[in-house]
Amino acid sequence: MSSSKETSNLKNENAYNSSGNQDLEIVEPSPFQNISINSISFLKPVKLTQSAWLEHIPFAFWLINAHRPQVLVELGTHYGSSYFSFCQAIDHLHLSTRCYAIDMWKGDDHAGFYGENVYSSVQDHNNHLYSQFSTLMRMPFDEGVKYFKDGEVDLLHIDGFHTYDAVKNDFDSWLPKLSSRAVVIIHDSNVRKADFGVYRFVAELRQTYPCFEFSHGHGLTIVGVGAEQSKEMLNLFEADNDERRIRHIQEVFSRLGKSCSNEYAVEAFKKIVADNKNELKVSVNELTELKKTDIEHLSESSVLKSDLKKYQIENERLRFENSQMISDMTSVNELISQRQHEINQILNSTSWRLTLPLRFAKRVIRYVIRRWKRLFLKDVNKKIVTQYLLFHLLILTEYGI
Ligand SMILES: C[S@@+](CC[C@H](N)C(=O)[O-])C[C@H]1O[C@@H](n2cnc3c(N)ncnc32)[C@H](O)[C@@H]1O
Repeated sequence: MSSSKETSNLKNENAYNSSGNQDLEIVEPSPFQNISINSISFLKPVKLTQSAWLEHIPFAFWLINAHRPQVLVELGTHYGSSYFSFCQAIDHLHLSTRCYAIDMWKGDDHAGFYGENVYSSVQDHNNHLYSQFSTLMRMPFDEGVKYFKDGEVDLLHIDGFHTYDAVKNDFDSWLPKLSSRAVVIIHDSNVRKADFGVYRFVAELRQTYPCFEFSHGHGLTIVGVGAEQSKEMLNLFEADNDERRIRHIQEVFSRLGKSCSNEYAVEAFKKIVADNKNELKVSVNELTELKKTDIEHLSESSVLKSDLKKYQIENERLRFENSQMISDMTSVNELISQRQHEINQILNSTSWRLTLPLRFAKRVIRYVIRRWKRLFLKDVNKKIVTQYLLFHLLILTEYGI
């Protein structure tokens, strides 16, 4: 046994050394000897959405090619990560498969509840790419089952509510609809927490049907329910009897699956970066606007400051003028009161009182002369002038002047 292994290794080394990578021989029995990991497993997914199913997308591609179902039904679609992977492979291989996605598109306690936008996005994508062979059925699984004939469904994907009872009900109620070559795949078969019970149910199925389980991506169990499986599917179920082959097949699909979840993570990260960039752009714009108004306020404030300075100077000047005026007024008042005093003295003096008649006479004469001059200059009747004169002379004599 050991000597044949040594010979094999030697053979391998020779092949490598003599011609580099080109003639590299696989000398150990290949774990994939009956499983064709053909190019479809390496398809680039058209749609990557948030999902616990991302890491099974390459296997979904492989499965469609290996199984080639006529009727495919999915119970639990959400954003369509699994469903659109099947559709993409069917489209790629130009198969005549009819596909049905059944979901209430409301969510549940395990997947979480979500809004109408999820169904709209699934509908848009389906209408855009796959409406010629794919139909969305918005209803409970138990209602959807009525629309299928017994023995019609070749591929059933169960990914609804994940309690033991729910998954058993889904399987049992759809069992009559399954064809003689039917394959059932059940997601979340490796989740062991809370009330998840898929792992218990698939353990029971293993007693009856050939199975193969991937433990990555929350677990996906493939169940060969129909007795007439394709050669490719039989090879997969056969591999389940050999630990080494199980491990190798799991590793290949787990590594391929990782590329999908990594790509989704990178896209999601890019979106976050783009969103942050946009937010940053908005913030920078706001900051620029704020700076602008800040500069405007600064210039307004400097104008106001210089105005204030002018008003302060003007105020100072007015105050000074005001105090000057007050002092001037005081002097004038003093002068007035001094003059008033002098006038009072004069008015109260004896000489002023004695000369009162003289001053009166002087005023009267001045008045008469003024009137007379006016009459004389206008050349009025002399008689009137004479009478006038006489009248005034009389007054003068009356007063004894
Ligand atoms: C885990 S998600 C499906 C994930 C999907 N296969 C993917 O690839 O991402 C489960 C979905 O099943 C739906 N669902 C659960 N129980 C249901 C039921 N009894 N009838 C209809 N839809 C149900 C929920 O609305 C939810 O969208």
